[in-house]
Amino acid sequence: MMFPLNIKSCIQILSLIFALSNVNGQDRKINATLYPGCQVCTENDTLIYIRAEGTHDTIHQIWDFTRGIPMVILAVAGVNSSMNITWKHTRPVNFTMSENPKYSFSTAIDKLYEYNDIHDKGYIDDSDGPWRPVSLSGTKWLPQNMVLTDQEVMVQLRGYVSDHGRSGIIDIKVDMLPFRDYAVELPHLIHSANSSLLDVSLVNLTRSRDFNSSRFALNLLLVSQQRGNGTLETIVRKSLDDEHTPGIFEVT
Ligand SMILES: *[C@@H]1O[C@H](CO)[C@@H](O)[C@H](O)[C@H]1NC(C)=O
Ligand SMILES: *[C@@H]1O[C@H](CO)[C@@H](O)[C@H](O)[C@H]1NC(C)=O
Ligand SMILES: *[C@@H]1O[C@H](CO)[C@@H](O)[C@H](O)[C@H]1NC(C)=O
Ligand SMILES: *[C@@H]1O[C@H](CO)[C@@H](O)[C@H](O)[C@H]1NC(C)=O
Ligand SMILES: *[C@@H]1O[C@H](CO)[C@@H](O)[C@H](O)[C@H]1NC(C)=O
Ligand SMILES: *[C@@H]1O[C@H](CO)[C@@H](O)[C@H](O)[C@H]1NC(C)=O
Ligand SMILES: *[C@@H]1O[C@H](CO)[C@@H](O)[C@H](O)[C@H]1NC(C)=O
Ligand SMILES: *[C@@H]1O[C@H](CO)[C@@H](O)[C@H](O)[C@H]1NC(C)=O
Ligand SMILES: *[C@@H]1O[C@H](CO)[C@@H](O)[C@H](O)[C@H]1NC(C)=O
Repeated sequence: MMFPLNIKSCIQILSLIFALSNVNGQDRKINATLYPGCQVCTENDTLIYIRAEGTHDTIHQIWDFTRGIPMVILAVAGVNSSMNITWKHTRPVNFTMSENPKYSFSTAIDKLYEYNDIHDKGYIDDSDGPWRPVSLSGTKWLPQNMVLTDQEVMVQLRGYVSDHGRSGIIDIKVDMLPFRDYAVELPHLIHSANSSLLDVSLVNLTRSRDFNSSRFALNLLLVSQQRGNGTLETIVRKSLDDEHTPGIFEVT
């Protein structure tokens, strides 16, 4: 599967929802499996495959933490479609679908940026001087908690960041519930059977000594299968509470 046509990169802090369409509340039958088809994976190799079957289509989701950069792949295809993963040792190499997806996209958090927010804006732009990237490609992810049932799919991981002497912890929680409701945690974002909730916390990251107002931003890559300008829309909403600034990305 390839997602080459439309790449959009944006920067957001904290909670995100990946949603697909937003019409009526159609529940789905979900089946989640941990590293399906991998013979040599262990408890520390986290790749979750979720098949969410609806009445008109099936959503396939992959939550991949096997290579440092956290990645989510989402594909929508026919009700009876299936996806196979081929592995090279503990790395997934091919995701094969039984039919062409109607729609697919992939998203990844590839790095953090540290910047000096001397004007305390809480927002990153060119006037903030140098941005210092912290790559996540060397991050080791250890699962802390996992729920794989037909009522909920949830995984919590702790990532140990290490990039050129910079270190710290990233806690990530990905949650999928097959019905429409508000999330329990602040800021109570809406989720549905079509969406997953991603929660990111940065803990004890090393700061640059020459910055006196360090803040961190996440770099979120979004790659979709849409042609040309497509109809990909990014809707960003922010709450007033700076500690819980959510962005909701609805892909329609
Ligand atoms: C979920 O997506 C399907 C199409 O894939 C759509 O018919 C349905 O209305 C969506 N449900 C919600 C709650 O967004
Ligand atoms: C869930 O998926 C696995 C393989 O991906 C399959 O073996 C299993 O039978 C499925 N379970 C249900 C309840 O469909
Ligand atoms: C998983 O990682 C933890 C912490 O590094 C380690 O103690 C444990 O042995 C690892 N498990 C496997 C199966 O490698
Ligand atoms: C999906 O599979 C079921 C059972 O095998 C079958 O009854 C149904 O017609 C199939 N649906 C489609 C759209 O192929
Ligand atoms: C992955 O898929 C590509 C294209 O279908 C194929 O050329 C390649 O050999 C596959 N790799 C593996 C390891 O199966
Ligand atoms: C997935 O693997 C199963 C078993 O190896 C095979 O029967 C099926 O045809 C494969 N499906 C795809 C889409 O490659
Ligand atoms: C973060 O640092 C504080 C102070 O050094 C320490 O008490 C706390 O345990 C650290 N948090 C984690 C998750 O390691
Ligand atoms: C922070 O650093 C900037 C320049 O690097 C300086 O102008 C500003 O006064 C400093 N603020 C504090 C509170 O030290
Ligand atoms: C894409 O959008 C831009 C600006 O809205 C427009 O100028 C351009 O013609 C569009 N390209 C296509 C392929 O639709």
